[in-house]
Amino acid sequence: MSMKKITDSVYAAGVLNPQLRVFDIVMRTEYGTSYNAYLVKGAEKSALVETVHASFFEEYRENLEQVVDIASVDYLIMNHTEPDHSGSIARLAELNPNLTILGTMSAIRFMKAITNRTDLHYQVVKDGDTLDLGGGKVLTFIVAPFLHWPDSMFTYLAAEKLAFTCDFLGAHYCQPTVTDDHIYHPETYWTSMQGYYAAIFGPFPQHVRFGLDKLRALELEWVCPSHGPVLRSRLADVMEYYAAASAEKPAGAKYVPIFYTSAYGYTGKLAQAAAEVLREAGVETEVIDLVTYTGDDLGAKISASTAFMVGSPTINRDATPPLWQLLSHVDAITNRGKSVGVFGSYGWSGEAVPALVARVKSLSLKPVGEGFRANFTPSAEELEGMRDYTRALLETL
Ligand code: FEO
Repeated sequence: MSMKKITDSVYAAGVLNPQLRVFDIVMRTEYGTSYNAYLVKGAEKSALVETVHASFFEEYRENLEQVVDIASVDYLIMNHTEPDHSGSIARLAELNPNLTILGTMSAIRFMKAITNRTDLHYQVVKDGDTLDLGGGKVLTFIVAPFLHWPDSMFTYLAAEKLAFTCDFLGAHYCQPTVTDDHIYHPETYWTSMQGYYAAIFGPFPQHVRFGLDKLRALELEWVCPSHGPVLRSRLADVMEYYAAASAEKPAGAKYVPIFYTSAYGYTGKLAQAAAEVLREAGVETEVIDLVTYTGDDLGAKISASTAFMVGSPTINRDATPPLWQLLSHVDAITNRGKSVGVFGSYGWSGEAVPALVARVKSLSLKPVGEGFRANFTPSAEELEGMRDYTRALLETL
């Protein structure tokens, strides 16, 4: 992808990575991704917004050199510092040792560790701070923590009604024309945007609502995220989707999803018994077989839950891998203190349930008792025991 001018002073300098199929180890990216980065040219000063993944530095450098002498750029603004955006900072600084790098206090701390360069010219910005590039091009920083790291912020260019939001409102999607005016495959873009939201922002609904409120307070025609198309024609639709997906549940509504694996259907019977009790109590639930489930929204489901349940048979004296992977999606901050029911059928020794209980505790969640186990096929008594265990979970809500 070459340099593209978006507005009077903003250029897109990012790169496409259409071959990528897994992002950050856990996220499927069927349509690849883009590492968007931008240049803002004022009358007196210029600023870069984010860099790109280190593997694409040369392409990024060539893009920039089409319109600017890198050594003459004044600022680098880092709205978020995950290495897909910060990976090229150290090499950029070799070309421009005088570059001033701006970010939140967390962002500066992270960048020092990511680059292993404490000697660069870092500058902490706070919510509401501004940066004047000359000719009316004033950038305003809007701190937006946990969208999706503690370091996150937005940068707003009022003169062009344009905000840089890094991951927020993005998509893992390659759009060679940069903006969203002519997306070749709108349905696949929309599917990608939804999966991206679920995986990255689903765990932080209250922060998403905060971020949307901040953006709604601005005069806004453009959003330049750091993945996927620049938003203009679809901006309202994407913001509306984020609003609906992050909406608070009605007061009193309870949602308790049940996640399980089952080799021969025995643990599955326990999951169904639990679901019957929850439904009888008027609690929304869904029973999710982790072996066949393909959605990217497990973390979002956990964050949206009032409590949740996990069930695994014991195989090789342990819980099964999908349960460990599921628990890796738990955000220990937003889910702190949540009740978790743990259950499973076993044949010989039954280590899965105590192992999951220990993991749940280590995540600052509250397991219900010591969990519930049944030996091989759950008997009528064991199924009733599972129902009683689920009632015990309900009493904690
Ligand atoms: Fe695209 Fe959170 O990095």
